[in-house]
Amino acid sequence: MNLQPDSRVLEIGCGPGLALALCAETVSEGRIIGLDHSPVMIEQARKRLEASGSESSVDLVFGGVDRLKEWPGAFDRVYSLNLIQFIADKTDFFQRVFATLDQGGICLTTYQPRLDNEDPNGASAMADKVTRIMKEAGFKQVVRIGIVAGPSPALCVIGQKEVRR
Ligand SMILES: C[S@@+](CC[C@H](N)C(=O)[O-])C[C@H]1O[C@@H](n2cnc3c(N)ncnc32)[C@H](O)[C@@H]1O
Repeated sequence: MNLQPDSRVLEIGCGPGLALALCAETVSEGRIIGLDHSPVMIEQARKRLEASGSESSVDLVFGGVDRLKEWPGAFDRVYSLNLIQFIADKTDFFQRVFATLDQGGICLTTYQPRLDNEDPNGASAMADKVTRIMKEAGFKQVVRIGIVAGPSPALCVIGQKEVRR
């Protein structure tokens, strides 16, 4: 994500906060928010951040994607990890994400099939769908990168909210 000390970062579906704790290692002057609709996950993330001493660097917010409207243009990095498969209306989701980004901000969406009921090679089809919907939502320079880790191929789709000229 090319994080900087002053990055303004949102993770949607932060789960137990693994990635948030890593973000907090770099982002010292900016802002980090973790959003999740599960109180159990928010509590696990809180405990993890406390254990790593980074609880004061991260705001944990309970709720679903409807909360994104509270942060218009507030972030320069918005990412999700293994959330997108649970989002029924992906068009609405990426429109909302687009609205939370400042000009030049980037959205990163990673999907790695891991469950028995998921196609282990399904990352490519998901990346195709995410790419199309992100372009429709207004994202530019949409690219994908493969991630080699874990039990099955993972793909991250990255798009930018273009800087106005
Ligand atoms: C598979 S977990 C991934 C957690 C974390 N991103 C990770 O990679 O470790 C998916 C997470 O997304 C959350 N989630 C699913 N649908 C959501 C929604 N509509 N709004 C907010 N959180 C959601 C779940 O509660 C869960 O914590």
